[in-house]
Amino acid sequence: MLHLVREIRDHNAEPSFDALGAMIYYIDAFPERFHHPKEDQYLFRLLRARYLDAGPLIDRLEEEHRVGAHKIRTLEQALARYQSGGQREFAHFDAAVEDYAEFHWKHMSDEENEVLPLARKHLTAEDWSAIDAAFLGHADPLVGLEAGAEYRALFTRIVSLAPPPIGVGPALRPRSR
Ligand SMILES: [Fe+2]
Ligand SMILES: [Fe+2]
Repeated sequence: MLHLVREIRDHNAEPSFDALGAMIYYIDAFPERFHHPKEDQYLFRLLRARYLDAGPLIDRLEEEHRVGAHKIRTLEQALARYQSGGQREFAHFDAAVEDYAEFHWKHMSDEENEVLPLARKHLTAEDWSAIDAAFLGHADPLVGLEAGAEYRALFTRIVSLAPPPIGVGPALRPRSR
């Protein structure tokens, strides 16, 4: 999405609403509705139980899951406005994409750099079995693990719609003025 909005902003490309829409649908279907609730219910819940000092960190990341759920709605609305309202709505959509990407990049970094080291240290083998069972059933196609058919189909759709170099869809064209 960052690539697409930057091509529109910096190189006057025609927006690919199909690709943008498929990407936002994927973010809603996978990270927002599937991945974050599993973190809350398994990884975070177990870490909180095993290591009380992780409480404030887990509180913050759970709050970010709630904030993220609002941000994806903002993103959907900004795309709808851009698609219906045209170029004058682009700046708002652009800002929503940059905001969402930055927010989640930070969120993922905190999970990788703060939560996972604590989890490695404090969770038991049984905890990890429960977490693995919860996550592996429909693992994320973006990180190359076995994917549920639904998410694999979504991923394929994005690849087929997104322009090169990120997908194999139609190349972006210059915007007609
Ligand atoms: Fe998360
Ligand atoms: Fe995560």
